Amino acid sequence: MESILKNRPTLTIEINKVAEVAGYLWQNGWAERNGGNITVNITNIMDDAIKALPAISEVKPIGITLQHLKNTYFYCKGTGKRMRDLARQPMENGSVIKILDDCAHYVIIADNPVNPTSELPSHLAVHNHLIEIGSPYKATVHTHPIELVAMSHNKKFLQKDVLTNILWSMIPETKAFCPLGLGIVPYELPGSSKLAEETLKQLEEYDVVLWEKHGVFAKGLDVMDAFDQIDVLSKSAKIYLDAKCMGFEPDGMTEEQMKEMSIAFHLPK
Ligand code: 13P
Ligand code: ZN
Repeated sequence: MESILKNRPTLTIEINKVAEVAGYLWQNGWAERNGGNITVNITNIMDDAIKALPAISEVKPIGITLQHLKNTYFYCKGTGKRMRDLARQPMENGSVIKILDDCAHYVIIADNPVNPTSELPSHLAVHNHLIEIGSPYKATVHTHPIELVAMSHNKKFLQKDVLTNILWSMIPETKAFCPLGLGIVPYELPGSSKLAEETLKQLEEYDVVLWEKHGVFAKGLDVMDAFDQIDVLSKSAKIYLDAKCMGFEPDGMTEEQMKEMSIAFHLPK
């Protein structure tokens, strides 16, 4: 079967962005083996010919019912698939799924019957909420950034907004480009509905959340936007750790300097 990307420049651009970001995740050392996953809501760039495609899988349960996802379409990284492979071959290491009328099941429609990521409940719960509130955000990214995961092993960093304030104070741009900060999700089993629920709650207040002892989960306008927010937070975490490795606690920007940033950049917090 020929790829649905053929003669579809808009869809190809979106999938190529996913492939590009998958390469960055691997190069950053955040995507060991099959670590991490990406989904993109591509419903508004589907044409009638794609919508008419037959299912190439059996009907599969999502695990939760998501009322706003009726007849929506997503590109999903495949479970067990590697980001470094997806970077070269996005349609061999991911697939397009369609959510069925009952909002609780899906089928794979293209290009290959690659089963979607085990974190599908978290990704789809977030997309469901984004649609419900009329958000323009279309992409969600989960990855395993080394420094941020390391910091999640210390209880003192898991109190609300402790890590947000440390990371914002390491370099001015972090607050400007991740203006909502970093939410915290206490440890839950990977792929579980409980993890999806807790992620959803935190993402009402933040664009990026830290999954304790596991990774981060971000939402964004597109996959680049979600990646950028993780990247600036991770950069701050590296600066913090480098200072600690040099044997001192970094001063961080002062309260006044942070306030000045918020005013100058019209930031919400
Ligand atoms: P998948 O290979 O199922 O996407 O899982 C990777 C992962 O990071 C789970 O949290
Ligand atoms: Zn993971």
